[in-house]
Amino acid sequence: MGGTVPEHIAIIMDGNGRWATAQGFERTAGHEQGAVRVREVTRACRRLGVKVLTLYSFSTENWKRPTTEISVLWDILKRFLQIEREEMLTNGIRLNAIGQVDRLPMMVRLPLKSIMRETQHNDELVLNLALSYGSRSEIVSVVQQLCQEVADRKLTPEDITESLFSSRLETGGMPDPELIIRTSGEMRLSNFLMWQAAYAELVVLDIPWPDFTTDHLNDCIKEFNSR
Ligand code: IPE
Ligand code: IPE
Ligand code: MG
Repeated sequence: MGGTVPEHIAIIMDGNGRWATAQGFERTAGHEQGAVRVREVTRACRRLGVKVLTLYSFSTENWKRPTTEISVLWDILKRFLQIEREEMLTNGIRLNAIGQVDRLPMMVRLPLKSIMRETQHNDELVLNLALSYGSRSEIVSVVQQLCQEVADRKLTPEDITESLFSSRLETGGMPDPELIIRTSGEMRLSNFLMWQAAYAELVVLDIPWPDFTTDHLNDCIKEFNSR
């Protein structure tokens, strides 16, 4: 493929429920199929030489969904972690989570933390899962942290620069996403990486996430290169 490959791609994986409903399945069947796509896209990004792939997996607002749907999502994540652990270890993938991970149930928090520790020195691709993530809450926590440091006289207000602020976000040390893809047609960020998205190219596809293939990923990268 010609052109450059973005160092950091972020994806708002939307449309699982609509995909399932359209085929007469329960919404959760869409989440199951969505996990299959996560696997394929992660592999493809690693092959392409992408350095960071951030996947919006669960937003702070998604806690308002029915508890039955939420618990299926955690079951799917738990299984995903079990199945993918070996592949992450052998293929140089570093698993990282951003978001309020402490709100997740123990049965996913434990494997998540242990795989994050086991893969911390891998450097082919960072698979950044946004879990119970919301940009506003991320930004507010940084503000609280910085205010405390000013109150403790460790910092002056003038020390607070854009780069200091960026470095304190959960994506600190990672490049900002150059390409943000959203599936299923909605033209909004839904509280995703609002600071980091300042200069990202946005590509919105009409297809739902469970139909997203590596061909679509290649098309999005082509679109990115044509802008
Ligand atoms: C995205 O698909 C997955 C999550 C938000 C967890 P949705 O579940 O939002 O599917 P739609 O948008 O209702 O079709
Ligand atoms: C965004 O999708 C969050 C994730 C993909 C995890 P939503 O379906 O939750 O967003 P809205 O409700 O359309 O804004
Ligand atoms: Mg949705």
